[in-house]
Amino acid sequence: MSAIRSVVRGVGAYLPSRTLTNADLALMVDTSDEWIVQRTGISERHIAADGELTSDLALHAARAALADAGLDAQDIDLIVLATSTPDNTFPATAVSVQAGLGITHGAAFDLQAVCSGFVFALATADNFLKSGAYKRALVIGAETFSRILDWSDRTTCVLFGDGAGALVLEAVSEGEEGRGVLTTHLRSDGRHKNKLYVDGGVSSTKTVGYLRMEGREVFRHAVGMITDVIEDAFKATGESAASIDWFVPHQANRRIIDASAVKLGIAPEKVVITVDHHGNTSAASIPLALAAAYADGRIKKGDLVLLEAMGGGFTWGSALVRW
Ligand code: UT7
Repeated sequence: MSAIRSVVRGVGAYLPSRTLTNADLALMVDTSDEWIVQRTGISERHIAADGELTSDLALHAARAALADAGLDAQDIDLIVLATSTPDNTFPATAVSVQAGLGITHGAAFDLQAVCSGFVFALATADNFLKSGAYKRALVIGAETFSRILDWSDRTTCVLFGDGAGALVLEAVSEGEEGRGVLTTHLRSDGRHKNKLYVDGGVSSTKTVGYLRMEGREVFRHAVGMITDVIEDAFKATGESAASIDWFVPHQANRRIIDASAVKLGIAPEKVVITVDHHGNTSAASIPLALAAAYADGRIKKGDLVLLEAMGGGFTWGSALVRW
């Protein structure tokens, strides 16, 4: 019996219509376009409208991914949604997306690994598909980080944005030109949990809280952690910096992305960058970047695509996908 692979059938994205520029932020806190661009590479980010929920963003992205796949919502039997900004404490935002799509079969659940959420969700869905438990999955990253930002804290409020992206994965017997998720590697180390966290929560304060970050500490660990899990992906598959077609990293900071690419020996023209227009959209950043590079024709069927993320926890992970 041939092994099962999870093949990408469709990709979709959604960004709220309102953009917030660095110039807008300079009117709100003591910052400047020059500082933000130089330290982060970010020029603007999208912000969800009042009443526009994470599930709304996710539903738009999911519909776009289904349309791209040429599939009907009823073809989906698994939804894994990565978010740290769910609509409510419960039920899972994924069930709102499921209901919005009119799906009543299969399973839908949320997964929380902060900025690494999409890689964790992809690995989870991939393993469910490979086990034979489900046939077609929507893997979604969706966030409204604007709701957990302290808009008076210039060290964090300039960094993040809202958005959603989704992939449709289908379980197929190995052999479709080697396509599919080739390997995933997930890591976490809770000793770092106080370096990037939200200062409220259900069980601790009974409030939502605001994002707090020791930016320099996160930065200090990021490149090493990212390159470690990518080396793991290369080791597991025999692929290398030379053989990948596209590097689609979590979009937190242009300097982290560039330093990781240099350390790994990945050519700059293979690196997909969206942080300039999206900011850090946490779990949504990778599928948003994938959707952008797919929509403009860069990522094509058969391309070898390397994904990585690192974030709160710390959590970090990589995935290598033959598109
Ligand atoms: O997905 C993972 C999520 N997080 C990350 O990846 C974040 C990782 N860290 C970073 O990206 C960077 O550490 C930051 C962009 C957050 C900060 O850049 P930095 O080069 O590490 O700056 P810094 O924190 O060392 O701050 C330098 C100076 C400080 O002033 P003093 O103490 O030197 O006088 C800050 O107060 O910049 C000041 N500063 C600002 N100035 C203007 C901090 N935020 C701002 C701001 N505008 N928005």
